[in-house]
Amino acid sequence: MLTRVAEAIAAARAVVAVTGAGISAESGVPTFRGAGGLWKRFRPEQLATPEAFARDPDLVWEWYRWRRAMIAAARPNAGHEMLARLEARVPRFTLLTQNVDGLHRLAGSRNVLELHGNIWRSRCSAEPDRGFDDRSSRGQAEEAASDASPAAAPRCPSCGARLRPDVVWFGEPLDTRVLEAAMAAARDADLVLVIGTSAVVYPVAALPSIARAAGARVVEVNVEDTPLTSEADFVLRGPSAIVLPALERLL
Ligand code: OAD
Repeated sequence: MLTRVAEAIAAARAVVAVTGAGISAESGVPTFRGAGGLWKRFRPEQLATPEAFARDPDLVWEWYRWRRAMIAAARPNAGHEMLARLEARVPRFTLLTQNVDGLHRLAGSRNVLELHGNIWRSRCSAEPDRGFDDRSSRGQAEEAASDASPAAAPRCPSCGARLRPDVVWFGEPLDTRVLEAAMAAARDADLVLVIGTSAVVYPVAALPSIARAAGARVVEVNVEDTPLTSEADFVLRGPSAIVLPALERLL
């Protein structure tokens, strides 16, 4: 099976990888569903919806700061690194990720669409175009909240409204331009690698089917079955940090 997938990659002109939390599991970033998943311990409706933020912005920020601390300690793993190298081998390669951890770029991937945003950015809740990069200028956005306790939601230095994490919450649409670019890449693909996602959150979960309907072959890399497994052309069972480098050795 690995050999056949390697042959399909070698023959492909356009490859799309769709990744989810599972690819970062071996970097120590918890997944959402399954054993040890965040949604087993926390309720998304209290932490990851616009209503939750309106009700208790400090609680939402506390949760995101806790996740930022975990992600700050994480390094890209062999799976992220393989995808970064694959980009250089394939004529057209697009990485579509649901992850907000930024580990794909840290591993060296360049053509990355972060469909659910990035945990290191925040933006003004009143003026969505006003964004802040909290990693390269950590603290700068939060300095505006110097009158608030460090546990409080930071405020926009320009207008004083609350800042929010620049991520997509449940009930929110994806950025239209990013989603359209992802759909175009999916329709253009000869081969789609679906890696470490439970494939239950839409619209991202529909991208492999869109690609398949347009003629692509679909490869799933996951430690367990998902709703996509039955329509995948190839299923590679195992942790992505092991499966992806093994695949690369056959290219
Ligand atoms: P999930 O946590 O739903 O799914 C993780 C998937 O990774 C599961 O299918 C696991 O079987 C698989 N997995 C775990 N460890 C793995 C490993 N080492 N190698 C390969 N696969 C592994 O994560 P997502 O599908 O990314 O959205 O979740 C989608 C969205 O739901 C997230 O972006 C987030 C979440 O709620 C929002 O917050 C809007």
